Formats: sequence, C-alpha cells, structure tokens
Amino acid sequence: MSKIRVIHGPNLNLLGVREPNLYGSENLETINQAMREVIEAAGHEFDAYQSNAEHDLVGKVQSSRLDTSFIIINPGAFTHTSIALRDAFLGVGIPFIEVHLSNIDNREDFRQRSFFSDIAVGSIIGLGSQGYLLAAQAALSRL
Ligand code: DQA
Repeated sequence: MSKIRVIHGPNLNLLGVREPNLYGSENLETINQAMREVIEAAGHEFDAYQSNAEHDLVGKVQSSRLDTSFIIINPGAFTHTSIALRDAFLGVGIPFIEVHLSNIDNREDFRQRSFFSDIAVGSIIGLGSQGYLLAAQAALSRL
C-alpha cells in the first residue's frame, strides 16, 4: 500500500465560493472525497492537506519524504511565485502532478509561468475538478 497526498495551496479552501465562473461550484471537501474514493478503491492510502502559508506547504512537501509515494498539487498563486516550494520538490524527489482548475494558459500573463510544470511528471489544467480525478488515476498508474 502506498500513500498519495493531495496538497492544495492558498485560497483553495474557498472553492465553491471563490469565483465559481473560473473555479467551479464544488468545494474542497467534495473534491477530496472523490479522490479518496478512487485511491482507496485501488487499495492505497489518501491524504489531503491545504494551507494558505508558503512555509507550511514547504514543510508538508519535506515531511512527505517520510511516507508519501506520489503528490498531486495545486499550488494556487504560489505556482507563479514560489521558488521555495519548487526547491522543496527538487529536494525530496517525490514524483508529482500539477493541477489547475482553470486554464492558466489563457488567463493573465503572470499566470502563464509555472515554477512547477518543468519538474512535474505532468500538468493538468483547465478541466475543473475533473483534473484532480484524472491526476489521481495517473498517480495510481505510476505507483
Ligand atoms: C489556480 C490558478 C492560479 O493562477 C490561481 O492563483 C489559483 C488557482 C487554478 O487552480 O486554476 O489560486 O491554481
């Protein structure tokens, strides 16, 4: 049995309320529950974490080294700013998939640079909450 962890960055605790035209009407709990079902049905362990704080996200990636085989992450706005979080992934070497609910490639210019996509196994963008399920399936197939 392996552990797959999903990490949600800043403001994703507001899903369902926050700009539903961009991010959909499902809340984080619903998204996590759907992932949990797929991952546990495949016989693996699931864990979900959300923080608005960069240092907590860095800490969670670092501690994942001890118990986690694969990470799915939506770094939120830190996607476009956080070299510290990128370095944490490089430091632990845990394979990960980057997910974005919206299509960051057709939004503002500042959203079009990701500090994660070149070091991720893959990125899923613009498919709303379905992206997390696709990421869970891809993670399972790579365990
Ligand atoms: C996001 C896209 C980011 O640019 C934004 O800052 C978010 C959400 C997405 O899921 O589409 O917080 O990561």
